[in-house]
Amino acid sequence: MLIDRFGRRHTYLRISVTDRCNLRCAYCMPFKGIVWKNKKEILTLEEICRVASIFVELGITKIRLTGGEPLVRRNVEALVRWLAELPGVEKLAMTTNGVLLREKAHALKAAGLKALNVSLDTLRRSRFEEIAKRDHWDDVMAGIEAALACEFDTLKVNCVVIKGFNDDEILDFVEFARDKPMNVRFIEYMPFPDNQWHKDGMLSFARMKEHIEQRYELVPLDTESGAVAKDFAIGGRRGTVSFITSMSESFCESCNRLRLTADGSVKSCLFYAPEINLRGELRSGLDDAGLREMILSAVLQKPEAHPPMEELVGMANRAMVEIGG
Ligand code: GTP
Ligand code: 5AD
Ligand code: SF4
Repeated sequence: MLIDRFGRRHTYLRISVTDRCNLRCAYCMPFKGIVWKNKKEILTLEEICRVASIFVELGITKIRLTGGEPLVRRNVEALVRWLAELPGVEKLAMTTNGVLLREKAHALKAAGLKALNVSLDTLRRSRFEEIAKRDHWDDVMAGIEAALACEFDTLKVNCVVIKGFNDDEILDFVEFARDKPMNVRFIEYMPFPDNQWHKDGMLSFARMKEHIEQRYELVPLDTESGAVAKDFAIGGRRGTVSFITSMSESFCESCNRLRLTADGSVKSCLFYAPEINLRGELRSGLDDAGLREMILSAVLQKPEAHPPMEELVGMANRAMVEIGG
């Protein structure tokens, strides 16, 4: 079982299927760009399936596909179908930037995807390109529409709030979600290598909530254990609002997450650079028992918590675009 030195049991695996992305969001993609991995460094879909099945035998019940942008990976629908049918997987989810969702939402749903999170930081077309460096706002909005029509079990919109950029849209986002079967999640801005993070840009959960409560009643909801978000109903409406408080109130003590990077590393914590890479051993024929040992050794390296916000700045880590959140 995937239990670490602090007694935390891991049931949630985030699999990054590619380091590539069709946007260039400033808080995620390093200013100088990154060197894309070449194709042979990236796990094949078959290799991902093999590693995922070992994780599931070890107790993983929830899998989320991430990127880069997962929908740019060729044939990702086939991976979804395979994972959805893997016994032991109770929840299969994806986090996408939504650019390709209009054309893919239906196929993802048909392949067995249950839950979809879509990143969207602005409801203003003109602002989108400022943060994402590409003109795809209409595509993302159409993608969200398509996802709503597919009726996934859950549809969440992730909004990274940056003071001075989009904090004046918080109430617009609440309005946007209020009457839809949708959860909008306001995420505190986190520092990653070369992502232009600055302390003054970080708006805390407490401030965001206070701001929303000037107009809407927020009623706390129960959250599933290990969840990163604090959830609220919007006074009797259909939509819900959440906050991801990684910076002001971390949730490391109940962390149940592990990550598999696109190039085959087990990353035990979002903010911990050391990893165990499985790819070489996988390709040189290591058996399942050997791979299990490697996975467990990564879990045993996992730190108790991430350092405070100020210490994260300048700390060695992969770029966010390579981690996938
Ligand atoms: P749900 O399964 O719907 O709760 O999604 P999720 O929040 O696990 O995943 P998503 O990809 O939507 O990520 C939303 C935000 O949470 C992103 O900003 C992630 O970087 C952040 N996040 C995800 N996992 C962790 C984690 O282990 N630690 C911290 N600090 N933040 C995380
Ligand atoms: N801080 C907070 N959230 C971030 N994400 C990407 N970079 C950051 C950051 N610096 C979010 C994206 C996406 C999720 C996977 O991670 O908005 O929704
Ligand atoms: Fe933007 Fe998401 Fe791509 Fe990052 S991974 S650059 S947040 S779209």
